[in-house]
Amino acid sequence: MPYSKIAGLGHHVPEQIITNDYLSSLMETNNEWIIERTGIKERRWFNPEKDTVANMAAKASRMALERAGLKEKDVEFIVFATITSDYYFPGSGVLLQRELGLEGIGALDIKNACSGFIYALSIADQFIKSGMYKTVLVVGAEIQSSALDVTTRGRNTAVIFGDGAGAAVLTATNKQGILSTHLHADGRFAEELYVKDPGSSRPREERQADQILDTTGFKVVMNGNQVFKHAVVRFMEVINEALHANNLTKEDINLLVPHQANLRISQYIQEKLSLREDQVYNNIMRYGNTTAASIPIALSEAWAEGKLKENDLLCLAAFGSGFTWASALIRWQ
Ligand code: UT7
Repeated sequence: MPYSKIAGLGHHVPEQIITNDYLSSLMETNNEWIIERTGIKERRWFNPEKDTVANMAAKASRMALERAGLKEKDVEFIVFATITSDYYFPGSGVLLQRELGLEGIGALDIKNACSGFIYALSIADQFIKSGMYKTVLVVGAEIQSSALDVTTRGRNTAVIFGDGAGAAVLTATNKQGILSTHLHADGRFAEELYVKDPGSSRPREERQADQILDTTGFKVVMNGNQVFKHAVVRFMEVINEALHANNLTKEDINLLVPHQANLRISQYIQEKLSLREDQVYNNIMRYGNTTAASIPIALSEAWAEGKLKENDLLCLAAFGSGFTWASALIRWQ
């Protein structure tokens, strides 16, 4: 049976840097509060003149392919994780396929928020293991700034989320690279972190009104406390599940790349796993929480900084809207 490995990683973030001080000019917040509660110093916001989810994803994908020594035409299938697709439908997978000139290959969209990249990675891994494909492009990309309420009313989400894209090329190998993926969800908590519109459950008269008067439903709603409390429990659970399934222990982990939700969550996990600071990769300080893009951006930067070495045990973990949570263990090749 073939296995899969990550053969190349890439990322792209918009140029526009949004500092905490700039946000303080839009709403009642301040640099100290944001840094103390989240660790975030700045994030990127897209430029509507030039950035789209699909074209940022294409830039990240080309970087990943180049680093893997592959060409666009080598890609046989795309798995695209995003909750902020350029259109309501079709998903951004087909738009990325068009950007890369890969007409004809399949493109699948995944809408599992912060866990989206690991869900996407898991699907690509299964396709490769089954022998159906040898080279799969796995992408996480988001433009979230357009859905943020940047008034004081939305400050608990506006200061957290950012835009960006990351990509991984998975290829078939005969040595086990991806050891396992574990995926979970609990829909009882769907409304703890969500954007309601354009939801189909909204009555036609409201959806098709010439002027939508109440745009509240288009903005991100989050019960931060609830999300935080569940996140710290589920992160640990799903990491321990992965270690247990592979007969490994926390001492075996060389590098943990958690979804960049909040620096305090990453630090909590680091402490629980008794990892050193340099064993947990964090870049939330510079990009905020980029949802499905956060793990591939972090992985791409970690790789570029030489933090991923042959035979290292890499652990990925995520938690987010849904609630969904997931982990992956990877023996780096
Ligand atoms: O990617 C996965 C999904 N997201 C997450 O994992 C996020 C998880 N949650 C969090 O990161 C945290 O809950 C937040 C950073 C969102 C909020 O931090 P918190 O420590 O849980 O603060 P809080 O919501 O309990 O609010 C404390 C106070 C409140 O004021 P009062 O009621 O005590 O007077 C808020 O109104 O802080 C206030 N507040 C702010 N103040 C300044 C909330 N947001 C802000 C803000 N600036 N941006």
